[in-house]
Amino acid sequence: MKRVAILISGGGSNMVRLVEEMQAGRIDGAPVLVLSNRPQAAGLQRAAALNVPTQALDHKSFPDRAAFDAALHDALTAAQPDIVCLAGFMRILTPEFTAKWEGKMLNIHPSLLPLFRGLHTHRQALEAGVTVHGCTVHGVTAALDDGPIHGQAVVPVHPNDTEADLAARVLVEEHKLYPAVLAALCAGRTPHIAQSGAFPEA
Ligand code: GAR
Repeated sequence: MKRVAILISGGGSNMVRLVEEMQAGRIDGAPVLVLSNRPQAAGLQRAAALNVPTQALDHKSFPDRAAFDAALHDALTAAQPDIVCLAGFMRILTPEFTAKWEGKMLNIHPSLLPLFRGLHTHRQALEAGVTVHGCTVHGVTAALDDGPIHGQAVVPVHPNDTEADLAARVLVEEHKLYPAVLAALCAGRTPHIAQSGAFPEA
């Protein structure tokens, strides 16, 4: 069974889905740590309620990015994870840090990479006028929102969609895609997953 650590910054709905699937035995993994860079993140309470060890590492109490990343590395090393899942973890990581975890660290990003890296991905999609959008799970490398793609899920963009509409539609797919990718990795497979959700009849 793989040891899985999950890094969050907010509500942690993706984290909850990963933990639930592990605890239900549908993923051959054990959640060993949920860590947030924001002590007030609601996801920490949700993890604790699921009996997963939690830790807060407030990035504001570190002088710079390198110092925070060094502490994050130490916290992760202590938990001895085989796989680290970024799940709404809203921190840019230093190349020194990502080099230490490359091959073991995953991220979920709310766009069809390589489109729309960075923040406000749903706004970017609406502004670009695309008719499909979605989410990507990929391996973490030094470059932001880059790295090998393990899975993608596609949703339609409707003409009068707001950012919130699109975010909600994509999140439903995130909650299916991330567990599917983690399940494959924990089973020793290299994931290459394509999913689609909520398309109207042609
Ligand atoms: C998710 O939509 C995730 O894809 C996104 O933040 C949200 C977190 O929601 N991540 C990023 O934008 C990373 N750049 P959650 O806390 O409910 O899982």
